[in-house]
Amino acid sequence: FTISKPTNDPFLGYMPGSSEREELKAELERQSNQIVKIPLIIGGQAIYTDKTIKVTMPHDHSHVIAECCIAGEKELKMAVDSALAAKEEWESMPWEHRSAIFLKAADHITNSYRPVLNASTMLGQSKTVFQAEIDIAELADFLRFGVWSAQEIFKDQPSSSAGIWNRQDYRPLDGFICAITPFNFTSIGGNLATAPAIMGNVAVWKPSRTAVLSNYYYMKLLMWCGLPAGVINFVPCTGSDMSQYVVSHPKMAGFHFTGSTAVFQNVWKQVGENIASYANYPRLVGETGGKDFIFAHSSADIEPLATAIVRGSFEYQGQKCSACSRAFIPASIWPQVETLLKAHTAALKVGDVQEFDTFMGAVIDQASFETCKEYIDRAAVSPDCEFVAGGAYDDSKGWFVQPTIIRCKTPTYESMVKEIFGPIVSIYVYEDDKLDETLSICDSASPYALTGAIFAQDRQAIVKMEKALRNASGNFYINDKCTGAVVGQQPFGGARASGTNDKAGTTLNMIRWVSAHSVKEAF
Ligand code: SER
Repeated sequence: FTISKPTNDPFLGYMPGSSEREELKAELERQSNQIVKIPLIIGGQAIYTDKTIKVTMPHDHSHVIAECCIAGEKELKMAVDSALAAKEEWESMPWEHRSAIFLKAADHITNSYRPVLNASTMLGQSKTVFQAEIDIAELADFLRFGVWSAQEIFKDQPSSSAGIWNRQDYRPLDGFICAITPFNFTSIGGNLATAPAIMGNVAVWKPSRTAVLSNYYYMKLLMWCGLPAGVINFVPCTGSDMSQYVVSHPKMAGFHFTGSTAVFQNVWKQVGENIASYANYPRLVGETGGKDFIFAHSSADIEPLATAIVRGSFEYQGQKCSACSRAFIPASIWPQVETLLKAHTAALKVGDVQEFDTFMGAVIDQASFETCKEYIDRAAVSPDCEFVAGGAYDDSKGWFVQPTIIRCKTPTYESMVKEIFGPIVSIYVYEDDKLDETLSICDSASPYALTGAIFAQDRQAIVKMEKALRNASGNFYINDKCTGAVVGQQPFGGARASGTNDKAGTTLNMIRWVSAHSVKEAF
């Protein structure tokens, strides 16, 4: 059996009067008027615990949309046991039957289930309709490209010779996979738990507490499409319980993560300190922090540059891993760039994501709001900073932070180098004859290397900038914004403190979830 290379899931337009818009509106209405009780799902069973948390909408933080059960020690141990119990049958299921479950889920996302996932992503994670649409399309892409990548890995076989047949068996890892997933993409949550399962593994999945509603609906979809009990166990819980009862388990064979650098480094330390207690060396795959940049040359086209800074920094409130959070602009073009940045930012509508023309919703939670507020408050009194736009916030109804552009006089001012993960971008205006020094600052001032973009029309400048910034990102853009990587087109992942760069949705990632067994047979 072979499947052909997938194409990306098409985006729907949601124009006024369109059927997809009406369906989504009805689903938003339905989901915002109920409180879903979210259970744990262990061994295919819904389990309700006494410990629960309330899930509210970031743009209307007193509005509860779900109550989520939290796993403790007992349930986490059950989840590991259920995963291990499901392992043998799952890995011996023929590949095409395993794959059919995921391809069926992708088809349902395309054809029928999209409003459910879009609405829960909009309400629970405060995404606008367009941001939810690209997220859920990406989820379908991860499923289809994941299955296709598995096929490409399995078909790669060693050469043989007369009287000898060499073959390679790509075994699932000898244990279970632990997935800890972020709030910012429903697709990333789904993919981190599912990719190892596509390769025949079983998993214990801790979704983010602020994305748990959309993640739960995705889990239900997988089960409805025939995922056997115990293959993925859905266990919202605290990070410390996950670390104590799951990460430390001797059968943890892999760890699939997107989140903060600090958490990933702590897990890495924990695994390192206890390395002898594991049956295998656990595979640690993580995408972590970022300080993504746009770097302009004096030959840049001004309008696309300004649009890229505004869209790259403020779409989804600057909470994409790839979001632009610093920019370097030459002094010769700054006056024109500044005028456009002010005009574009002033035109953005910030507010309720259920209104289809909203550009930006609220940041995810109070902690994120406080972080943004502190950066803004410090910038407001710093002689190093001047606000080009924004600088205001309001948490009376939702966790709203206005799209904020800070011009910094020093290129190492804190907001130029530290990750904020909110709608705040810092700009350093450099003297045109200081291009080399400024490229070097961009490369070295932050420990991260996730995404970056350059804007220039002069080809010699493009060559120079690309070379100088070669190691400053895992995803690099020339004359485009630094967000919006598409599965199968711009494989996503970063290096340095941004992660292990095992590109999501590709063979580079999927191969981490198998342990090859080389077999030689002589005739
Ligand atoms: N695909 C997203 C982007 O590039 C990141 O996950 O914005």
